[in-house]
Amino acid sequence: MATCKLQGTIVSSQLINKKVPKERVSDVVTRDKFKVKVPQLTTTYTPLPILPLIEKTKEIIVETESTNSAGKFGRFGGKFVPETLVICMNQLEAEFKNALRDQVFQEELATALRDYVGRETPLYHAQRLSEYYKNKNGGIGPDIYLKREDLNHTGSHKMNNALAQAMIAKRIGLKSVVTATGSGQHGLATASACAKLGLECTVFMASKDMDRQSSNVRLMKLLGGKVEAVNGSFKDASSDAFRCWIGDLENSYHLTGSAVGPHPCPTMVREFQSVIGKETRKQALEKWDGKPDVVVACVGTGSNALGMFHEFIYDTDVRLVGVEAAGLGLESGRHSSTLAKGEVGVYHGAISYLLQDDDGQIIQPHSIAAGMEYPGVGPELSFLKESGRVEICVATDDEALDAYERLCKLEGIYPSLEATHAFAILDKLIPSLPKDKSKVVVNCSGRGDKDAPIVFNRRVPA
Ligand SMILES: Cc1ncc(COP(=O)(O)O)c(C=O)c1O
Repeated sequence: MATCKLQGTIVSSQLINKKVPKERVSDVVTRDKFKVKVPQLTTTYTPLPILPLIEKTKEIIVETESTNSAGKFGRFGGKFVPETLVICMNQLEAEFKNALRDQVFQEELATALRDYVGRETPLYHAQRLSEYYKNKNGGIGPDIYLKREDLNHTGSHKMNNALAQAMIAKRIGLKSVVTATGSGQHGLATASACAKLGLECTVFMASKDMDRQSSNVRLMKLLGGKVEAVNGSFKDASSDAFRCWIGDLENSYHLTGSAVGPHPCPTMVREFQSVIGKETRKQALEKWDGKPDVVVACVGTGSNALGMFHEFIYDTDVRLVGVEAAGLGLESGRHSSTLAKGEVGVYHGAISYLLQDDDGQIIQPHSIAAGMEYPGVGPELSFLKESGRVEICVATDDEALDAYERLCKLEGIYPSLEATHAFAILDKLIPSLPKDKSKVVVNCSGRGDKDAPIVFNRRVPA
């Protein structure tokens, strides 16, 4: 029997979680520089030309058209929302495109990214971490670099997008912003951006995440944000944020921090995060007159990974590695490895990979990192995984904790537990690299002060 269930709390017959049958991945379409296997139904993904290298921060936000008006990435994405919301989503898309074309907006954003957020973030050579892996592999190993998104104002990549979207909200003339957060990092970034711009801010957060990321909750409140506790997990907080927005469309702006949701949300988030990869390309050229051989990023919903990967999609000599949370292990069923273990379905307004059971019901995700705990993933990343362009690996809770401690001891850096999933994969990745002189860039997506109590409980005796 075909099953479908109203998932979350978004009230729409089209926002159901629907299992989509696996389609054949058969057509091979030749792009400018590489071959992408595209699902048979795909006609819409138009790849971007490689963007010219940017010199100044203000030039980094450029218009892109990697989706069509339906917001499809191959067979993924779309706009599965009630009819009444379609107009709002279309207006949002128009405002987004206007903002990207508007020189004044671009300059204001570039200035804010530089003076408020602290961009550009460094590309840091982690010498002792590189030595550690060389010693483990008979003296051979890559040079490891960290893209220091943890050094952004409020401590993560989330600020890149939160600030830009808050500026769009202000530009449209809306007075309040509503959002959801898992780890609290996106909530923190949004509350700060709203304080800066004089907007009201409401953040929905699961109570269990409020407990484990309590320092971020207190900071959000200090910044003037209203934090609403939600039963369940980040997915439920996301549903409630949508619902709150739908109840006040005239005054409020739904500011998504995840690369998920109906079009144009995933494209907006990726666009505002793509500064990460653009800066990385420029910095690699300055530092070693080349490109990274491998870039690695953790994958919760995909915002930091896409922000890093997007710039390199057409550089087939650059390996793109995304790392999902394997929680207590893939076989335990208690993980958040959506791309590794999920199936295609419709959730939160778009088609993508999902963790779902045989009846099409969402499986509760698990990760030690609150920001990795989501049962879906961005549609663009689903497309890039299915096309074979992005490699997907997984790291368990314990491996992420090991990586946290390793970074502390070897580099004096404590990344967020989300980011440490990306570092955890180095143990397996490095032996697979072909040459000694490889350059590996790991996106250090956030700082881990918020996670120190978890690490203290699990690893550091009082
Ligand atoms: C610091 C940090 N990194 C990574 C993530 C995972 O999200 P995404 O995959 O959207 O980057 C989060 C989510 O909250 C986060 O706070």
